[in-house]
Amino acid sequence: MNILILGSGGREHAFGWKIKLSPLCDKIYFAPGNAGTLAIGENLAVNPNDFQAVKDVVIAKGIKMVVVGPEEPLVRGVVDFLESDPELKGLMVVGPSKQGAMLEGSKDFAKQFMMRHDIPTARYLAVSAKTCSDGKAFMKGLKAPYVLKADGLAAGKGVLIIDDYDEACAELDRMLGGKFGAAGNTVVIEEFLSGIELSVFVLTDGNDYFILPEAKDYKRIGEGDSGLNTGGMGAVSPVPFADAAFMEKIENRIIRPTVNGIQEEEISYRGFIFFGLIKVGNDPYVIEYNVRMGDPETEAVLPRLKNDIVELFIDLHKGKLKSHRTETDSRKAVTVVLVSGGYPGDYEKGIEISDLAKVDGSHVFHAGTAIKSDKVVTAGGRVIAITSMAPSIDEARVLSLKNASKIHYQGKYFRKDIGFDLM
Ligand code: AMP
Ligand code: GLY
Repeated sequence: MNILILGSGGREHAFGWKIKLSPLCDKIYFAPGNAGTLAIGENLAVNPNDFQAVKDVVIAKGIKMVVVGPEEPLVRGVVDFLESDPELKGLMVVGPSKQGAMLEGSKDFAKQFMMRHDIPTARYLAVSAKTCSDGKAFMKGLKAPYVLKADGLAAGKGVLIIDDYDEACAELDRMLGGKFGAAGNTVVIEEFLSGIELSVFVLTDGNDYFILPEAKDYKRIGEGDSGLNTGGMGAVSPVPFADAAFMEKIENRIIRPTVNGIQEEEISYRGFIFFGLIKVGNDPYVIEYNVRMGDPETEAVLPRLKNDIVELFIDLHKGKLKSHRTETDSRKAVTVVLVSGGYPGDYEKGIEISDLAKVDGSHVFHAGTAIKSDKVVTAGGRVIAITSMAPSIDEARVLSLKNASKIHYQGKYFRKDIGFDLM
């Protein structure tokens, strides 16, 4: 079967690598892909948000399955577009419908969904410009710090955590005044939860679910979790504190009620749910839903998953997810992300990357890379994700660091302490 992956990051390269391991996969295409995906398939110059162009390549290349990597095409409705087209009958698309994608596309929708289904999450109030004063009154009743979230997609920048009440009020005014464009027309104000975060992933058809290995990601640019937020500087899987008892709480209180809620509300959903969770005391709470896999979590999770992922995707569409049991590699995976100098602020692109072939004993997943004059060059903030597997987190981390130091490009930066809080 020919399979198309939408997206161009480390997550999509990792999906491609995993899909390629399946005997069910013939040829793999990426739209648009990166320099790394070229080595395992064909890159197509197609924007995943241009649905007609996606349809055209599905037909032209005889594609039978489309895996959607990032959230934006999902929130814009790519799945509904492809599934409702009579010319694409029988195409299997991995990703939720537009309505299902609102679990990520609207934080207010996600909060209301959690309220309806009794899913533990932070107390909140959603406000608009008209009800701004209610928001300020609600904040008065909360303890600092204050959490303000733009309702819509804001490229991971829409969440602000502010210590001072007056500053939080001023920021609320700015958000409702258009700081994040239309994404901030509604702002969700939340109680701050204090604890340690983890990410749990399921594949679901809104009826059954298949739990993937969990992970923890490291969002801050600096060591010891300091400095600005990024898309993710590294990840670890498994998460030692997510023991069987805690995972059972997550399944009973969060995963099952979420999947049941999708079913009760008749939301069409065949894709991943990424539960961004926080452990408060001994209890799990939902910080956010994403309707796709995480990046860089995917780069740590998929190398540990032993199941044939194409078989899973086919059975997702046949309503047979139940017949699969999660099989995992017991080794620990540590992913270290190499970024461009200056990231998450401004950075240069087009810088030559050398010595990639010197990496030994680790997976190399490309993120922001491209080919220019036959050379691999940087093309984004997050450039390469290196994943190593070993009996302990520390051994896996050390191997990833050893290989990270072998790759060269001007301005290269990576965190050396991924997993520091788990050892
Ligand atoms: P989100 O985009 O909703 O995942 O938020 C980004 C980050 O902000 C999360 O990964 C948390 O670290 C933090 N965060 C969001 N909501 C809360 C909350 N209610 N309490 C504490 N931290 C939060
Ligand atoms: N690493 C977090 C995310 O993919 O949203």
